[in-house]
Amino acid sequence: MHFRRKDLLGIQELSPEEIEFLLNTASSFKEINLRAIKKVPTLRGKTVIHIFYEPSTRTRMSFDIAAKRLSADTYSITTAASSMVKGETFLDTVKNLEAMKPDVFVIRHSASGAPQRIAARTAAAVINAGDGMHEHPSQALLDMLTIRDHKGRLEGLTVAILGDIAHSRVARSNIWGLTKMGARVIGCGPPTLIPMDLEKMGVTVRHRVDEVIPEADVLMVLRLQHERMSQGLLPSLREYARCYGINDERLRKAKKDVLVMHPGPINRGVEISPDVADGPYSVILEQVANGVAVRMAILYLLGQGERQETASGASI
Ligand code: CP
Repeated sequence: MHFRRKDLLGIQELSPEEIEFLLNTASSFKEINLRAIKKVPTLRGKTVIHIFYEPSTRTRMSFDIAAKRLSADTYSITTAASSMVKGETFLDTVKNLEAMKPDVFVIRHSASGAPQRIAARTAAAVINAGDGMHEHPSQALLDMLTIRDHKGRLEGLTVAILGDIAHSRVARSNIWGLTKMGARVIGCGPPTLIPMDLEKMGVTVRHRVDEVIPEADVLMVLRLQHERMSQGLLPSLREYARCYGINDERLRKAKKDVLVMHPGPINRGVEISPDVADGPYSVILEQVANGVAVRMAILYLLGQGERQETASGASI
């Protein structure tokens, strides 16, 4: 099939076939990351600019590593080091960077819709690396790839997304992706952290984590997004950990082959205990490893300036 999009802005707009194609292409890139020389010439001569106006460890580094492994030239700009501190608008910043003729912008922004706004105004490919509470498409793709690696499928699985769903772009992208791919999604958390429209997205809403755990093939644990939260949504962190934290005792009720996932960063002892985060069911670092392959696939499919027919047989 052909992947004909200029941009990757969200999972909501993708078809199941496009998601499958992205996952298959990412699978074919995994092997490069295991080579002694982890570099292929695919994007030689292409320019990728990372614009991160919010903190990031995993997404920023893995997009940068992915671009460099494809031989693209990469540049990075952050809020503190940009002329935004002198009053320049985000759009003016991007227009000035566009004058330098990049091929791809990778954008993280605290405002939902910021990458979409830029995509409509630039000829370069735009990749959403997380916008406000809206979407984080590359995270959902790497999560789906990790589940598929372990379970061999997505269809028919029960994935429980646990915790602060209201403020989570990771949850939103995963809900779009997993439901499109035929998984059953349960959203579980305190009522104050569950968005009103969740059931309309095809999600079963529950509030008691101990009742959800035995049903799930995958437990996707979310961080409390304090930076996006208004006051008064939780009595205390201690109370949250007691009622919703995933710990060894709770996990005893889980299926024997359950996967424990977390997009990171982790707040150990709050939403997940250290013994679970580092334990035998955890695939958290596999998610990070798959993030590089997924981002290589996205950059490969969007960064060539011409839409390629590829999945596993790509000339990489
Ligand atoms: N999962 C994720 O987006 O992590 P970072 O904020 O470190 O990029």
